[in-house]
Parts: sequence; structure tokens; C-alpha cells
Amino acid sequence: MKRFVCCAVAAVVAGLSVSLVSAADEKPKYSIKEVMEFQKKDKLFDKMKKGEISKEDKAKLLEGWESAAKHKPPKGDEKEWKEKVEAVVKAIKDDDKDAFGKAIDCGACHGKFKK
Ligand code: HEC
Repeated sequence: MKRFVCCAVAAVVAGLSVSLVSAADEKPKYSIKEVMEFQKKDKLFDKMKKGEISKEDKAKLLEGWESAAKHKPPKGDEKEWKEKVEAVVKAIKDDDKDAFGKAIDCGACHGKFKK
């Protein structure tokens, strides 16, 4: 019996490490936190809202939000999260500052998805 339990545990551990490795393969460049921090620190979202963002900053912002889309939010519904983040990504891609302003509702999103 003891032996059986031991093997079962080993199998679970092995399965777990395999899934960790495959997840690491497509690991997004930034964590959600990192995206939040750089968009806030450099006022990227502010510049984007005003339509005053440089090409480089916009690329970074887009990359950041595309990374965020690949993460699970700390809480809330994953499907809804994807929709919210996709709206932000789309607005950046379309260079649509009004749509961006609407999509980047800090408080509303934090209330739903931030722990
Ligand atoms: C689409 C949803 C969404 C939007 C829009 C959003 N955030 Fe966040 N934000 C999050 C989530 C989720 C976290 C928690 C990340 C974690 O804990 O891993 C977070 C965390 C943060 C953090 C990290 C610090 C902390 O308190 O944990 C800062 C700073 C932040 N957001 C700033 C902003 C600002 C400023 C805006 C608006 C310009 C904004 N966010 C818009 C989802 C969003």
C-alpha cells in the first residue's frame, strides 16, 4: 500500500513538472503586474489616451497588454478578463484613443480582477 501511494505521488509530480515546462515555453514576456507598473510609471496609458504616444512606447504598451491577455487574472472570470484585455489590445492596435480611454478603466477592472 505504501509503495502504491509513493508511486502515485511520483506520477503526479512528474505530470506536474511536464505541464510546468510546456507552460514555460509560451511564457508571456511580462506579468500583469509588470505591465501595470510600466504603463503607470512612464504614463504610457496617459499618453495613449491623449494620442501623444511615441511609436516605441505604443509598441511596448501593446506588447505589455498582449502579455496580459495570456495570463489568468488573480481573481474573476477568465473569459471576461480576456474580453476586457482584448478591448485594450484592439484599441492600441487601431490607434483609437477614445476606445482606449474606455477600455482602460483602471478602477472598474481592478474591482473585478485584482485581489
Ligand atoms: C483589463 C483590466 C485592468 C485594467 C484596465 C487596469 N488594470 Fe491595473 N491591474 C489589473 C490586475 C488584474 C492587477 C493585479 C495583477 C496581479 O496582482 O498579478 C492590476 C494591478 C495593478 C497595479 C499593481 C499594484 C497593485 O496594487 O497590486 C498597478 C499599479 C495598476 N494595476 C495600475 C493600473 C492603472 C494606473 C490602470 C489604468 C490606467 C490600470 N491598472 C488598468 C487589471 C487591470
